[in-house]
Amino acid sequence: MKPAIEIKENIYWLGENDRRTHLFENYWTLPKGVAYNSYLVVDEKVALIDTIEKSMMDNFIEKIQSILGERQIDYLVINHVEPDHSGAIKSILCRYPEITLVGNCKTFPILKNFYGEQSRIVEVKDGTTLNIGKRELTFYLVPMVHWPETMVTYLPDDGVLFSADIFGSFGTLDGGIFDDQLDLDYLEEEISRYYSNIVGKYGSPAHSALRKLSGLKIDMICPTHGPVWRSYISEIVAKYEKWSCYGSDPGVVVVFSSMYGHTEKMADTIAWYLAEEGVKKIRIHDTSKTHPSYIINDIFRYKGVIMGSCAYNSGIFPTMDTLLAELENMRVKDRYVSFFANMSWVGGAIPRFTEFAERMKWEVVAPNFEISGEMPASGQDTCRKIARAMAEKL
Ligand code: FEO
Repeated sequence: MKPAIEIKENIYWLGENDRRTHLFENYWTLPKGVAYNSYLVVDEKVALIDTIEKSMMDNFIEKIQSILGERQIDYLVINHVEPDHSGAIKSILCRYPEITLVGNCKTFPILKNFYGEQSRIVEVKDGTTLNIGKRELTFYLVPMVHWPETMVTYLPDDGVLFSADIFGSFGTLDGGIFDDQLDLDYLEEEISRYYSNIVGKYGSPAHSALRKLSGLKIDMICPTHGPVWRSYISEIVAKYEKWSCYGSDPGVVVVFSSMYGHTEKMADTIAWYLAEEGVKKIRIHDTSKTHPSYIINDIFRYKGVIMGSCAYNSGIFPTMDTLLAELENMRVKDRYVSFFANMSWVGGAIPRFTEFAERMKWEVVAPNFEISGEMPASGQDTCRKIARAMAEKL
């Protein structure tokens, strides 16, 4: 295991890599694992900033003790109560019973629901400071990035921001922990997938948080997952600026559901004509094969979306319905869209697609294209028109 790592004088990273969990929040896939980061600030008082997932408690306590020995921890700052960061609280309270929990008015009701009533607490407000000796911790509330109680903790003299989920990433920290020690190309999709899957629904709160924090002098960003940012701070902040405004690149995601291959052929044909129209960034996804995590990530990334589904039991295909519901829940904004469908013998996909387009307020760039069974020869021209309409918009 990695030891505790001093990231600035008397400030330590205490994270753990998790390569065993398959699904984050029991839903989002983790092919490259995930890291849980916690931090310790040692001054006249000792402050632990967040904890980790409870299954890794033994290593975590060992790391704390390697720094503190028998010295006690004075404060546990709870930037975010989600159990991947608060899971170790009970064990920490057991080992350090004198510890005072630091949170805001939204923190403690949620904490009580998970871990029962706590007696030693300090409630902070936006901008509150807490002196721990030579250092002062400053707290900024960033509600809904990712839960209502979320806040960040800032050390002004060190220029260190403990940013909770903001600027986090899926993927373990293989080798080093800093952005300049890691292969960011390898982690790129995990960074964007973490944003789109976990933070993406909260674009507007994320944008507000960035505005609130923009005046701070920041030399190091310490999120609760993924790399510690010190050399590529402006790059990760620029990504968040773009993503939180639903910024996108010119490209098209063609996503389909198909039982016997006819709808897939339509998808392939449309993609071929997109290429003929000069679109380079084309991503085709089969909802039966690809987890929504990746499809959603590409839809966050690209401006154009072309969706097709066969009918299934008089409705839309179930995995497409799941994807649409996820996107509606996440309220992804400002995309161009077009739909195609295969009605088999009764249809059912187009009404759901229409409902989806209305809810999302996405601009529909071409008329719906619906066939029954094998695509007729005339369908080629319709596929070309859909591709051209989309390409002209990009
Ligand atoms: Fe990493 Fe919202 O918890």
